[in-house]
Amino acid sequence: MASLLLFLLVSASLLPQLSSSESDSYISATISTKGLSFAKDLIISQAVDSFVPIRIPDIKKSVRIPLVGEVHMTVSNVTIKAVNVSASESTAAAGELGIVIVASGASAKLSLKWSYWYDSWFVTVSDEGIASVQVEGMELGLTVGMKNENGALKTFVSESGCYINDLDITMDGGASWFYQIFVDGFQDHIKASVESAITGKITEGAKKLDSLLHSLPKEVNLDNVAFMNVTFVNDPLFKNSAVEFNINGLFVSSERADLHDARKILAEDSVFLSDGSKMLWISLDQAVFNSASDVLFQAGMMHWVVNTVPEQFFLNTKTWRFLIPKLYKKYPNEDMALNISVTSSPLVKIGVGNIGATVNSDMLINVLDGNQTVPVACIAVEATVSGSVGVVGNKIVAKAELDDFSLALKWSNIGNFHMSLIRGAVLIFLKSICIPYLNSYLRHGIPLPIIHGFTLEDAYILMPNSRVIVGADVTYNRSIAAPQIRSFVYSLKY
Ligand SMILES: *[C@@H]1O[C@H](CO)[C@@H](O)[C@H](O)[C@H]1NC(C)=O
Ligand SMILES: *[C@@H]1O[C@H](CO)[C@@H](O)[C@H](O)[C@H]1NC(C)=O
Ligand SMILES: *[C@@H]1O[C@H](CO)[C@@H](O)[C@H](O)[C@H]1NC(C)=O
Ligand SMILES: *[C@@H]1O[C@H](CO)[C@@H](O)[C@H](O)[C@H]1NC(C)=O
Ligand SMILES: *[C@@H]1O[C@H](CO)[C@@H](O)[C@H](O)[C@H]1NC(C)=O
Ligand SMILES: *[C@@H]1O[C@H](CO)[C@@H](O)[C@H](O)[C@H]1NC(C)=O
Repeated sequence: MASLLLFLLVSASLLPQLSSSESDSYISATISTKGLSFAKDLIISQAVDSFVPIRIPDIKKSVRIPLVGEVHMTVSNVTIKAVNVSASESTAAAGELGIVIVASGASAKLSLKWSYWYDSWFVTVSDEGIASVQVEGMELGLTVGMKNENGALKTFVSESGCYINDLDITMDGGASWFYQIFVDGFQDHIKASVESAITGKITEGAKKLDSLLHSLPKEVNLDNVAFMNVTFVNDPLFKNSAVEFNINGLFVSSERADLHDARKILAEDSVFLSDGSKMLWISLDQAVFNSASDVLFQAGMMHWVVNTVPEQFFLNTKTWRFLIPKLYKKYPNEDMALNISVTSSPLVKIGVGNIGATVNSDMLINVLDGNQTVPVACIAVEATVSGSVGVVGNKIVAKAELDDFSLALKWSNIGNFHMSLIRGAVLIFLKSICIPYLNSYLRHGIPLPIIHGFTLEDAYILMPNSRVIVGADVTYNRSIAAPQIRSFVYSLKY
């Protein structure tokens, strides 16, 4: 496994630039052949069920038969009652023009009414009955193209076809001489009608895929203050049997009126991972994390008042009497509160195999003097954290660790005191209180734009330079899917 990861990591960072970097796309998602095959299996039986019954137009024919004369024949009420497509005998992969789905060895059952009449001497002879037709070895194929239309995905069927190998007609009743005439007269016609009826249904069914795409989340909400811009950028890329989608992916403020000038963000070259070991690859530029950080900062979410801690003695002036004697002298044995405010949007940086951030904050020391909160000093804290990243559900979560920090006294009403004196205590505070607090927040994670009803599974994470790449399989859970998805996805019986 390690060597596979290494290979992916290296190939991801060495791959030539394959999609345009000048575009404003910060998240790309690649569905591999394995993922396409999974999607195909989910929808194929449902699509087929929605085909039937299919009515085919009546066919009329007259043939001249020696000794009998002109026989007028009609086939009516031709109905395709069932179509069987086996998941194992069908494939889905991305071709040059779109996603190519091919099913071979499909079968179908038809029923029909037959009748004939002819004039013999002065009487009209007629007969009628029913017949069933079994179609075997049918091949179905279609190509679903996709393009970007005003930031949304549009699908269309660029090719579709149906080819029938073999028809087996069984007649109920009828004179034996008639059977061969019937088969000779109608076999090709029935074949052709079924082929064109099924081709038409495939095209119709694939058009419904479009409605499925409309249920893709357009916005992914983050803490009610930010949402991810899930606007598609460029047309999907079909490559190496996989398909890549690019979306904007940046977080923007929910208060659209209040759109701040987002800091200039540049996406690194995107990578195209088509590795079939996972169904889905999602690559997120560090700009995505920075946009989330930026919006949360702008929304004023990065303030924190600390007045209760597990070791409450920490927030009492008595504890600090040797480190900051003047504080104790002025406010003996008083409770304290710390007001921590991040002062600039934390900058997230992703290097090969690591992710980290620099957090600048002001720590305002307040003394709780009776009912009054008295600010006594303010210390600038610059901390660097690094972290590990994981996937929980459909979210990217992180866990941070403190790497280093520096302190600078901004102002004080209790005289000057040396940062080196309090460094040890601040270290304990950062490690035992701030970092766990930050982690409880990071555990909520950044949501990925996944259709409701589908969940990532067995995910692993790669971090080439400036990107987080998630490789995962996908599972489908009917009970949490939206109705329009449910109507597409049959069941998980495979
Ligand atoms: C036509 O075929 C269908 C399906 O076999 C059957 O249910 C229906 O009764 C038939 N209609 C006529 C008029 O024979
Ligand atoms: C479809 O497959 C099932 C199970 O293999 C079989 O029972 C059924 O008769 C098949 N139907 C057709 C139309 O071939
Ligand atoms: C969302 O992304 C698209 C494409 O990059 C961009 O044109 C649009 O302005 C973005 N919308 C917001 C609200 O940022
Ligand atoms: C904490 O600091 C922020 C920003 O400096 C300020 O708006 C807020 O009133 C302060 N709260 C307390 C309890 O000191
Ligand atoms: C604190 O405030 C409460 C209610 O606002 C008041 O009853 C109490 O007397 C105040 N105590 C002091 C020491 O100011
Ligand atoms: C599907 O989702 C429902 C509701 O969240 C949950 O109770 C159920 O266990 C899930 N099923 C599977 C197979 O994960």
